[in-house]
Amino acid sequence: MRIAVIGSGSVGWGLARSWSTLGHSVVVGSRSPDSERVVSLANEIGNGVSASGLADSAQSADVIVLAVPCSATEDSIVALGDLSHGVIIDATNPFVGGLNLEL
Ligand SMILES: NC(=O)c1ccc[n+]([C@@H]2O[C@H](COP(=O)([O-])OP(=O)(O)OC[C@H]3O[C@@H](n4cnc5c(N)ncnc54)[C@H](OP(=O)(O)O)[C@@H]3O)[C@@H](O)[C@H]2O)c1
Repeated sequence: MRIAVIGSGSVGWGLARSWSTLGHSVVVGSRSPDSERVVSLANEIGNGVSASGLADSAQSADVIVLAVPCSATEDSIVALGDLSHGVIIDATNPFVGGLNLEL
């Protein structure tokens, strides 16, 4: 399955690592896919995991997983473009600092 994980934080990379280990084709959608941090994380995981810009990452994905701060959900979805071809999984939680609501 082709999976686009949106967000290069700990949740995004954990999911990318696990799903790629299971044989899925994973691309991490990032606002800065060419940054040293994101490139080195992709290299560290291996398994064919790559990083791409937001719209490119989602373009041919069967599944798109949102792993961004809850407050960034709307901006991320707008940047991803047309998502009508894929299943969307929202992994975000609206919590900061304990159980305080972020929004
Ligand atoms: N469902 C669950 O079981 C579960 C468990 C833990 C956490 N969560 C949720 O999963 C989400 C991700 O958690 P995380 O710990 O990986 O978060 P994080 O470390 O803050 O990373 C989020 C990533 O989102 C991207 N991003 C896009 N817009 C952003 C913005 N305006 N500000 C900051 N980052 C932005 C960044 O990647 P780029 O810079 O590469 O774009 C960033 O690395 C959160 O909503 C969290 O609450 C869910």
